This record gives sequence, structure tokens and C-alpha cells, in this order.
Amino acid sequence: MQGRVLIVDDDRSMCELLETDLRLRDFDSLWTTSSTSALELLQSHPVDVVLTDLRMPGLSGTELCERIVANRPDVAVVVMTAFGSFESAVAAMRVGAYDFVTKPIELDLLALVLQRAVRHRALQEKVKLLSQEVEGLKRFDEMLGTSRPMQELFDQLARIADSEAAVLITGESGTGKELVARAIHRRSRRQSQPLVPVNCAALPDALLESELFGHAKGAFTDARAARKGLLLEAEGGTLFLDEIGEFPLVTQAKLLRALEEQRLRPVGSDREQPFDVRILCATNRDLESAVEEGRFREDLYFRINVIQVDVPPLRARGTDVLLLAQHFLQAFAPRSRKEVLGISDAVAEKLLSYAWPGNVRELRNVIERAVALTRYQQLAVDDLPEKIRNYRQSRMVIDSGDPAELVPLEDVERRYILQVLEAVGDNKANAARILGLDRKTLYRKLRQYDQNP
Ligand SMILES: Nc1ncnc2c1ncn2[C@@H]1O[C@H](COP(=O)(O)OP(=O)(O)OP(=O)(O)O)[C@@H](O)[C@H]1O
Ligand SMILES: [Mg+2]
Repeated sequence: MQGRVLIVDDDRSMCELLETDLRLRDFDSLWTTSSTSALELLQSHPVDVVLTDLRMPGLSGTELCERIVANRPDVAVVVMTAFGSFESAVAAMRVGAYDFVTKPIELDLLALVLQRAVRHRALQEKVKLLSQEVEGLKRFDEMLGTSRPMQELFDQLARIADSEAAVLITGESGTGKELVARAIHRRSRRQSQPLVPVNCAALPDALLESELFGHAKGAFTDARAARKGLLLEAEGGTLFLDEIGEFPLVTQAKLLRALEEQRLRPVGSDREQPFDVRILCATNRDLESAVEEGRFREDLYFRINVIQVDVPPLRARGTDVLLLAQHFLQAFAPRSRKEVLGISDAVAEKLLSYAWPGNVRELRNVIERAVALTRYQQLAVDDLPEKIRNYRQSRMVIDSGDPAELVPLEDVERRYILQVLEAVGDNKANAARILGLDRKTLYRKLRQYDQNP
């Protein structure tokens, strides 16, 4: 079958003639003499192309075409015009008709035009599906990333979101730990229940206990009425304990007991209450050292760390830096009413070589500032802050004494390896010899850095 055609013409004999001819040419067709009923037929019948006359009582062919373009972008429109009324054909094309044929109709030509319209529709559909697929691969919930470390993170998140296990989200400041927590909640069975975030660092130690567990009436001087705590507010849903490393030692035992027994006792109350809440925690601090130093209870650490999700630093995400820069640019440009379309190659190079100690948050701020400053349609190097403009990797590694400029060892290693590779013209065997690594190790490291070996 070539495709399904809806014929619309106020001349019934014309409809019948076209239907007969199109059937012989293997098109499936139906017809109507009223443009209003054409719209109804479109809702109840699968149609690839509408073939419509222009001059009709009621809704004209151009108006019909306009409505189909607006409401049914999946259907192509071909119009039939009287010989010589060229302007009306142009008008129809202007509102989105795919093509036109002139009366008296040459049936061979009509069949060709319809065939092309059907094929055009199918192609458009395919392109749409493909670009949705690409869009889907680039993001997980609100998080963007095509680099290998991010794709691995997305895989892990997809696997664990639906479990009930406690998750500890680790990663440097600004890497997106909060987005990870939200993504896990939204993909879990608890998604229709609340996600309650608690910033453990923002609350004074003395308040945290009653905030979390609630308190009974008269529990302390200010407690004129009983109050439900955040754990109960999250009932059926998820509690997100952000900056768990700051959780006061004195309250850790109480939290542990509550999590183990899934029951809690509000401050000043003698009654326990059951609760059903999934726990997600985040920290940018090394919680293991906190445990070793006695600042964090080991038993609580194991309880909240059933699954660990490590969010990679921005500098380990390869060209995601550019993807994110473009994403933020598109978000900020309209806000400052500027038509900034992209970034120059020189800016891209600077963004790729900078170490991003403040990670995605820092990148976001840099782009916001650059968009506000720029006088160009493409961000230029002058729009970047000085520390990024003048960032020189070797100087940083060798002779900076400023703690704010110093970078992690792993970062020094990555840059040095890339520098050696560049110096030997990308010859892996030579690079491995200079670095004192075997080739497999070099390949493994390059894969970690998301550089295609
Ligand atoms: N992959 C990503 N795609 C898009 N935006 C991101 C991504 N990662 C982070 N962001 C954005 O970067 C900013 C910082 O993210 P977030 O607050 O989640 O970081 P964090 O790890 O919780 O930081 P901190 O440790 O300082 O609390 C937010 O504005 C967030 O929307
Ligand atoms: Mg955070």
C-alpha cells in the first residue's frame, strides 16, 4: 500500500473519480464533500495525506490546511487549484501545504506528488524519533552528559532508583549531587510521595533533632504545640540528608536507631511511631576519614551507605563541559535579552583545559557572567574571568603556592599524561615508555579520562 489519502472536494463526482483512480494505484482513500467533516474524519481514521480542493463552501481549502498544519503535523496537505489561480496555491503553500496540483488533474502527476508527500512524512517521523533518542541519551532527568563517566552514572542510577536501599551520594562541591538525589526519587516507586530535603549544615545542632523527629507539646520552652518532624513529612517518600558529614555526633545515635527500627520518638515524647521513608544522603567530604577520626559513627556510615554513587568531577567529563556550557548559555541568553548563540573555538579550548574546582556550579556562574558581559553573538575569550583566561596548566602544577589554584593529584596525572601524548604525536607506545606505564594501563587511564584511545 502506497499510503492513506483523504480526499476533500465539494464536487462529489470528482471525489469518486479520484478514489477510483487512486485505488488502482494502490492508495487507500476515503472522501468527503465537506471540509468540516474532513476534520472529524481525521480524528477517527489514520491518514497520511489530505488532498483538498481550495474553493469550497464553509471552511476554504486554505483554512482547512491551516488547521491541519496546526493540529496534525503528522499529516501532509496537498491542494488542488483551478488552472490559472496561482495566487491561491501560493497562499496555501504559505500556510504549510506540502505541494499543489492544478486542475484539470493529471492523474500520473498526482500519484507522484502523493507518493512524495507520504515519503516526506515518514522521513520527518523518523528524524523526530531519532532526535528524541539522541536527546534521551544525553540526559538523565535534569542531568546532561554524554561522557563515559556520566553514561556510567546514568546506568547505575537507572539500576538503583527503584530499589529501597539507602544511597550515599559522594562527589566534589557543585558536581550535581542534589540533581542525582532528585533523579533517584523521581524514578523510584515513591515518586508520587514527597521528597524532603534537609541541609544538615544549615541547621544548628540543637535544632536538628527536633526538626527531624518532631517534638511533643511542651518538650522545650518554645514548644507550645506538638510538631511533626521532617521524617514524618516524608512519609511514603524520600528524605534527602544533604551534607550528612555535618550531622552532629550527639544526634547520630538517635538517627541510627530510628533507621534500624523504622520507628521514631519525637523530642519530649514517650511514644514511638513507625515510619516508612527511603534515605538518601550526600556529602562532599571524605566521610571515611571522618569515621576514622571519630567524628562520624561507623555503624551509621554503613547504614546510610548501602549503595554508593560517586558523581564525577567536571574535569573528568571531557567534552560535556561544552555541552553544559551551551545548555547554560541557552538558559541565560533570553534572560538578559541577548541573542548569544554559542561560544567561539578559543573559548571552547579555555573551558576544556580549565580544572573547574567548583565543577558544574562554577561553569554555570562563568557562563551567566559571560552572557551578561558579552557584546557578541558568540562568547569570546574576553568574556571569561581572568583565572580561566590565564589558566596555564604547567604553571599551576609546578609553581603555584596559592591553595585556591592547586589541583588534585589525579588531575596533575591526567594532564601530564595528555601532555606527554601530545609531545609524542599521540604515539601510545612511546608515551607509555616515557611514563613508565604498560600500555594497558595507559589505555585504561585514557578511557577513564574519556579520551578515545
Ligand atoms: N549534569 C548536569 N546537567 C545540568 N546541570 C547540572 C548538572 N550537574 C549540576 N548541574 C547544575 O549545577 C549546579 C550545582 O549542582 P548541585 O547543587 O546539585 O551540586 P552539589 O553536588 O549538590 O553541590 P554541593 O556539594 O555544593 O552541595 C546546579 O545549578 C545544577 O542544576
Ligand atoms: Mg548540594
